[in-house]
Amino acid sequence: MRILSGIQPSGTLHMGNYFGMMKRMVDYQEQNELFCFIVNYHALTSVFEGDKLRQGTFNAACDFLALGLDPDKSVFWVQSDVPEVTELTWLLSNVTGMGLLERGHSYKDKTAKGIPANHGLFAYPVLMAADILLYGGERVPVGKDQKQHLEMARDIAIRFNNIYGETFVVPEPDIAGDVATVPGTDGQKMSKSYGNTIEIFADEKTLKDKIMKLKTDSIPVDEPKPVEGNVLYDLYALFLDDAGKEALKERFLTPGLRYGDVKKEIFATILEYFAPYRDERARLAKDRQFVVETMQKGAMKARQAASFYIDKARRNVGLDYWNR
Ligand code: ADP
Ligand code: TRP
Repeated sequence: MRILSGIQPSGTLHMGNYFGMMKRMVDYQEQNELFCFIVNYHALTSVFEGDKLRQGTFNAACDFLALGLDPDKSVFWVQSDVPEVTELTWLLSNVTGMGLLERGHSYKDKTAKGIPANHGLFAYPVLMAADILLYGGERVPVGKDQKQHLEMARDIAIRFNNIYGETFVVPEPDIAGDVATVPGTDGQKMSKSYGNTIEIFADEKTLKDKIMKLKTDSIPVDEPKPVEGNVLYDLYALFLDDAGKEALKERFLTPGLRYGDVKKEIFATILEYFAPYRDERARLAKDRQFVVETMQKGAMKARQAASFYIDKARRNVGLDYWNR
């Protein structure tokens, strides 16, 4: 199965990104054909400083490699190293209705808040569809917030195939039920735009501060604690298997549990879980040449896969005028 997903290089990696998308990608590389990329073209909709984008892209590459993405087992590259994706965006734009894009959440949210939206933000879902269709992605692991974008990519693929004949694979979204939304420090969805993130490579002190300040209810110690919607339970559960989750639930439901103790355990668990990745991350950050070469080799593999679909699309729409 060809599994494909991308991540924006526009912020520091947090636990939502890790459990919602990156970990699942790394797990998939063992049994599947994995395509994973850093979407720097998409980041241009919100990052307007060249240096920030350069640094963010390099950091995201280090993050993924440190977290276990193996460039020999997968295809791992930077989106803009295969610029054919922008050509495909144009071909797809012409089968994408205005209505479809006008219903887009991110565009609608911005305009509703009075933030002027640019054309890039409006057309964002078309570029994302091109990302997927260019490589024949069959399954796309993302967090729940990307569900609508995936539906749009499917609509665009189906419409293109209907007009021009079978050209693209229609992708399936892959949203894991139990980690569909990782909560942030305030209990809302963890997101860099809400300022409620827990960064996976944060230093020990910052991490401790964030965990100890997690917002909890004020139920007395000698009463049972709720599990549903409890940010402590939800965060801790990310690190546990089914039996571990059951045991944790039992502890919450038994009077006497102190939230302060649970916080300390969560802090220790996170620290221990990410420790090996943290060391590898620091090593990679110093080896710029290796990281850059790895990404460029990845782009060559990606480009090869892309040529099949872009050539077919060019032919099917009739750009091959020499073939008359
Ligand atoms: P953010 O919301 O912080 O801007 P991105 O939109 O860059 O994060 O998300 C990158 C990937 O991580 C996407 O696949 C997204 O669905 C996933 N993701 C982000 N936040 C969460 C979360 N809180 N829970 C689950 N998955 C998430
Ligand atoms: N829009 C996605 C996000 O913000 C990132 C993305 C761009 C993506 N292209 C993609 C995800 C293709 C999956 C497949 O998280």
